[in-house]
Amino acid sequence: MNRRIIIFTIIAMTIALIGLMGIQIYWIQSASAIKEANFRRSVNESMVKVVQKVERMEKNKALAFNQYQSILNIDRHLPYDTFITKESLDSLINLQLNMRGVDTRFEFCIYKPELQEFMMERSSNFRKELIEKGNAFILFQSDIYTSPEYLLIFFPREKQFLLTELWGMLLISIILIIVIVYSFTYTITTIFRQKRLSEMKNDFINNMTHEFKTPISTISLACEALSDKELRGSGEILSNYLSMIQEENKRLAVMAEKILQTAVIDKGQLKMNREKIDIHEIITDVIKNLRIQVEIKDGEIVKKFGATKSRIEGDRVHVTNLVYNLLDNANKYSPKKPLIRINTENANNGIVIIIEDNGIGIGKNDQKKIFDKLYRVPTGNIHEVRGFGLGLSYVKAIVDEHHGKISLESEVNKGTKFRVFLPFIIKE
Ligand SMILES: Nc1ncnc2c1ncn2[C@@H]1O[C@H](COP(=O)(O)OP(=O)(O)OP(=O)(O)O)[C@@H](O)[C@H]1O
Ligand SMILES: [Mg+2]
Repeated sequence: MNRRIIIFTIIAMTIALIGLMGIQIYWIQSASAIKEANFRRSVNESMVKVVQKVERMEKNKALAFNQYQSILNIDRHLPYDTFITKESLDSLINLQLNMRGVDTRFEFCIYKPELQEFMMERSSNFRKELIEKGNAFILFQSDIYTSPEYLLIFFPREKQFLLTELWGMLLISIILIIVIVYSFTYTITTIFRQKRLSEMKNDFINNMTHEFKTPISTISLACEALSDKELRGSGEILSNYLSMIQEENKRLAVMAEKILQTAVIDKGQLKMNREKIDIHEIITDVIKNLRIQVEIKDGEIVKKFGATKSRIEGDRVHVTNLVYNLLDNANKYSPKKPLIRINTENANNGIVIIIEDNGIGIGKNDQKKIFDKLYRVPTGNIHEVRGFGLGLSYVKAIVDEHHGKISLESEVNKGTKFRVFLPFIIKE
């Protein structure tokens, strides 16, 4: 996929997501506003009923108490404690609120603002809140000659109550948003990973074609020369060409083997031929094969066998390839006069092979990735050094098969140091 299309899609999706979240928040807010309005209405209705009840109680009491006096004194009600207790007022309010589904703690009082007097109250802890934030309902409105008295009610846990009514919706919204954001980021990272993979695959195919092309063209040239009758007369030239063909053929076989090997590792079908092998012997053999390539560049390989016990259980071919790959890298990625040190030491019931070079080094970010299949440190678009990016992934697989460990230290332009630990015995 085109980079621009990806970025455009990401931006579009982000905007859509933010839009959706905005709408969601808006809906929740509206729902919460409706809930709050409902709550207010229920409280109002309940309290109107309570006020009516209180007034009726007073009237009944007054009639029974002194019918005559009460009819004359229409403008003055009886003292509260003569017809109602705070407990009965409490249960009256409670009943009315419960009937309308308002099931949360409340505080109430009867307050006369003129005298700043609390004529009846459930507790004195909420006076300030009752006056500042409480809902007020006038009592005995018809007593036109006395200053007004109010029944005040306050809900200390009003916010929580409204929220618990909404929490189901909120929770589902939050879960859905998390799911969408997660899937979104997952999709994006997958797209980028796939893109990187496909670029790496393209690189690999380019490299492979290049690597195969050289020996193929050399062989075809040699064959052409051999078909020349005049040349066939000379035995020396003939054997020269033949050995050239043989060498190039070997190179081709090695490359094909490398690629096939990776496929085998991928399928988990790597076969291990366990035997007693001598690491020092293997290293010496590999150095013998690589020495010329290093010396061509005016470099050298210095070995120091510090390990006293160098025999381990392992696969001869794979461990040889392992050492070869690491030394080959050390040489390949040291453009000027390679100085390659290879040391061994014993530790933790095993042997440690340390391969150090003075080459181009590997940046911190790339160090994690170099063991990935096909990964090559990008150096612009041109790779000066050819390779498939398979060597280290193979090395890692072999180390794992031997239950060993591999680590590296590296600094750009200073060099790289690989440490490979292989145990004496492979424990299952
Ligand atoms: N000693 C080293 N110094 C600097 N960079 C290194 C070194 N060893 C490996 N690298 C980096 O790690 C990458 C992966 O190495 P790996 O051996 O897997 O692949 P390769 O050498 O490119 O190809 P091949 O499959 O032929 O070995 C290399 O492309 C290189 O960028
Ligand atoms: Mg390599």
